[in-house]
Amino acid sequence: RVMGVLRELEEGCETTVGRLRQVVDAMAVEMHAGLASEGGSKLKMLLTYVDNLPSGVSGIGIDIKFFAFELSIYTMSSVRLTFDIVMNEKGTYYALDLGGTNFRVLRVQLGGQRSSILDKDVERQTIPQHLMTGTSEDLFDFIASSLQQFVEKEGNGSTPSFVRRELGFTFSFPVKQSSVSSGLLLKWTKGFAIEDMVGKEVCECLQQALIRKGLDMRVAALVNDTVGTLALGHYHDVDTVAAVIIGTGTNACYLERTDAIIKCQGLLTSSGGMVVNMEWGNFWSSHLPRTSYDIDLDANSPNPNDQGFEKMISGMYLGDIVRRVVLRMSQESDIFGPASPRLSMPFILRTPLMAEMHEDDSPELTEVARILKDVLEISDVPLKVRKLIVRICDVVTRRAARLAAAGIVGILKKIGRDGSGGITSGRSRSDIKMRRTVVAIEGGLYTSYTMFREYLHEALTEILGEDIAQHVILKVTEDGSGTGAALLVTKFLHRKSLCK
Ligand code: BG6
Ligand code: GLC
Repeated sequence: RVMGVLRELEEGCETTVGRLRQVVDAMAVEMHAGLASEGGSKLKMLLTYVDNLPSGVSGIGIDIKFFAFELSIYTMSSVRLTFDIVMNEKGTYYALDLGGTNFRVLRVQLGGQRSSILDKDVERQTIPQHLMTGTSEDLFDFIASSLQQFVEKEGNGSTPSFVRRELGFTFSFPVKQSSVSSGLLLKWTKGFAIEDMVGKEVCECLQQALIRKGLDMRVAALVNDTVGTLALGHYHDVDTVAAVIIGTGTNACYLERTDAIIKCQGLLTSSGGMVVNMEWGNFWSSHLPRTSYDIDLDANSPNPNDQGFEKMISGMYLGDIVRRVVLRMSQESDIFGPASPRLSMPFILRTPLMAEMHEDDSPELTEVARILKDVLEISDVPLKVRKLIVRICDVVTRRAARLAAAGIVGILKKIGRDGSGGITSGRSRSDIKMRRTVVAIEGGLYTSYTMFREYLHEALTEILGEDIAQHVILKVTEDGSGTGAALLVTKFLHRKSLCK
């Protein structure tokens, strides 16, 4: 019977390359729908107002674009110019990064002719569980206190004079932005549930807390973690076109042409593009391989019918899928000995522990035995049962990694970088000269779970074919998002957009 449960799991998690290609197509189609109208898709495709990415280019740049130019000596009103004056900033910037496994406060020192990153200091801490479901005031007081302590530590008890007032804030939840430094929280994800904050102006909540602590700072860039990661990725490598986070949650953003953002007609930017936060964690398609474990996990989650893609892929959930499979096996047989009450405790098997079991290369699978005993209180299981656990981890992780890969190719397809020449083009693969394409990537699942990473890369090559896949590079930028937010502060600080 146990083998029957395993077989059923394997079949339910099947991700043949044919199925992955269907997911790729569905992702590209949903991206179009989400850009076409508000509520047109489960993909929100949120505007970020980031229309210019840092590139480490020196000096003061003046970018002049003529949108409509009619030479007229009588009236200048027909001449529309936008000036985008970008100055490379020097100074010490602070940034906050909320929404991953750790909350981070960063100090980034920028300087010189090129806005080079001279120095960086990062402090990480976990957000206490009670603050994730309490009040917005308590959460933001905690954040403001952490910032205050961090700043004062460096200034020996007071705010040092060299510190810039402008703050970067990475807030990794869905936000409907109205500018690069403001936006409303649409909903919580990843286990946060602070009801009084939904629909509120995120920066205002932080600003009030900063005032309560007597900190004279203001948020100059409010960014999603994907956007911060893209900013730093682009700063290091200008071929970076998208960013993906695969950690506690999962999401992606990419640079889109403004004329493709149909739901926001008339959007003019000096670059002709804007970064779009897809919020792909909420992607859904009938082609996704869904099992009864996914359905139960969703039904018992604080956000049912929400974040379906995320619940199959990200670190918050993978360990719990494995726990559910083991629970079912223990109910159908006695291979795990007497029923352990621990197996019924949601989220007790965290994904890092699952990864340790999966990657246990000792002949006797001693790590598997240890984790089963210490965490799930299941002792003395024979080697063949420990091997079964490794197999379950493998099936669950492989599906997650391959779906993430399909998501990435979906983006590449949308922007015409999958070697097919774009969704509407009929050009053949051999006609296309594939450009070097970099995707910045971050998050504990990808960076710390070797098997996950390998399965993702393998699937990318399978879907794209080796000749195209060799041009697609995934690049990790550690703590990238907070640093990227600080870089974006400098980018937008002195912006003057003139439209006559
Ligand atoms: C970090 C980014 O490196 O990765 C964060 O700076 C992001 O902004 C995080 O949220 C995601 O990883 P995890 O595994 O902590 O959720
Ligand atoms: C969740 C959030 C999203 C974030 C992602 C990765 O999906 O909704 O905003 O980018 O997690 O942290």
